[in-house]
Amino acid sequence: MMDLTEIEGPAVDLPLLKSAHSFGTGNKQATFGIGAPYLGPMLRVSSGQDIRFHVKNMIDEVTTLHWHGLHIPGDVDGGPHQEIQPQDVWAPIVPIRQRSSLNWFHAHTHGKTARQTYLGLAGVMQIEDSDSLSADLPKTYGIDDFVLVLQDKQFDSDGQLVYQLTGEVFEEGFTGNRMVINGHVAPVTQPVPKGLVRLRLLNACNARFLDLSWSDNRPVHVIASDGGFLSRREAVQSLTMTPGERYEILVDMRQQSEALLQVSDSDGGGEAEEMLGWMTNALMGPEPSNFSTTPVLTLIQNNSLPAYDGVLPDTLGQLASPDTEQVIRRRQFELNMGDGEDLAALAAAWGNLCGNGSMSINGRPMNMDIVNEEVAIGETEIWEISADDQDHPFHIHGCSFRILKQQGDVPPAYASGWKDMVTVGEGTSEVLVRFDHKATKDAPYMYHCHILEHEDCGMMGQFTVT
Ligand code: C2O
Ligand code: CU
Ligand code: CU
Repeated sequence: MMDLTEIEGPAVDLPLLKSAHSFGTGNKQATFGIGAPYLGPMLRVSSGQDIRFHVKNMIDEVTTLHWHGLHIPGDVDGGPHQEIQPQDVWAPIVPIRQRSSLNWFHAHTHGKTARQTYLGLAGVMQIEDSDSLSADLPKTYGIDDFVLVLQDKQFDSDGQLVYQLTGEVFEEGFTGNRMVINGHVAPVTQPVPKGLVRLRLLNACNARFLDLSWSDNRPVHVIASDGGFLSRREAVQSLTMTPGERYEILVDMRQQSEALLQVSDSDGGGEAEEMLGWMTNALMGPEPSNFSTTPVLTLIQNNSLPAYDGVLPDTLGQLASPDTEQVIRRRQFELNMGDGEDLAALAAAWGNLCGNGSMSINGRPMNMDIVNEEVAIGETEIWEISADDQDHPFHIHGCSFRILKQQGDVPPAYASGWKDMVTVGEGTSEVLVRFDHKATKDAPYMYHCHILEHEDCGMMGQFTVT
């Protein structure tokens, strides 16, 4: 399958590169990468470490690198205020003080996050702690423990990577016609031992919501979400992942010799031509931007690999129920779409989009000079978030939170642990949140829609924690 290269802290070199990469469509595409032709490494760090990064920008354009999921002060968060000019080095020291969890890092440049991330400025950071190191779970990276970066890409009939914006793309976000895993066109095949296998999943699509399931309908066993282990294993028929979300799942490879992981559009895909049918067409004919069910990963049992022979755990760890007694304040956020004509005009003049009065939160498009909210450090709050028409994946920097309500309902059990992403839309979503690190007005935190084109279009705000 081609694993992301594993590297370890505490001194980490992450050169941002202009490169060329073959996704498997027959030729090389111009891409960005982080110490690699496309995407970055799988960086393993330990809770308690201070990571000294050396991020050199060699992509000939301004960029930033944000540590998504980390509980760290605003001045090392890597948001849009921490620009790295071409040829410059950014060298933050990032204190890792949170529980074991799968996090990631990606470009977060004001108005340019979507394209830069799409072209490859993204990587994965796995935080370990004593719980994760002692857990009775598969943990041999590349043998029975895998990181899967799930993305969709648009390829034209010559197999060339496309990223093109129109008013409609701004509305829906950019979606592709093929899934890629760790930079390789899906489906990919991976031999695995005859035992338990652990998959750590990241939806790094710009805009596509994914429903994951096994083709033989065996349950998806979820053990961890964005912020770490769930209290117990949750078995579900399908797992919905919005852009930005992470989940860990287990699969028992002792029963069947093969297991096929597939994704569908979480809204069903509507008029979609079947992506599968399109993929088997040698001419790469029509190019659906919706698809119904697409195989992404085939695991094949291989008896000669060393197997992790444990059982599926029922419980993972202690997770207190969300404590709403401490709530001091409620804040309301409404995500607003711009009107279609504005968006078409923006698409035509695409550059730095924010502040143009298109998409917004509470009617105010992201403005680098305006602090939208001021939060007191250590105080527990409830954030109520809603949106008028479509669904959006909402993300908050600097914290993990607990979802009390998702679109008016209790969240699925697998989303009731620690999270930094919540789906919002019709019906209010509520999260219980507290910030334990500082973010001043020179280096505020962001909250935003993680459909990256919406973020670039202004569906973002910033806040201080003092
Ligand atoms: Cu994953 Cu503000 O981002
Ligand atoms: Cu983030
Ligand atoms: Cu959105």
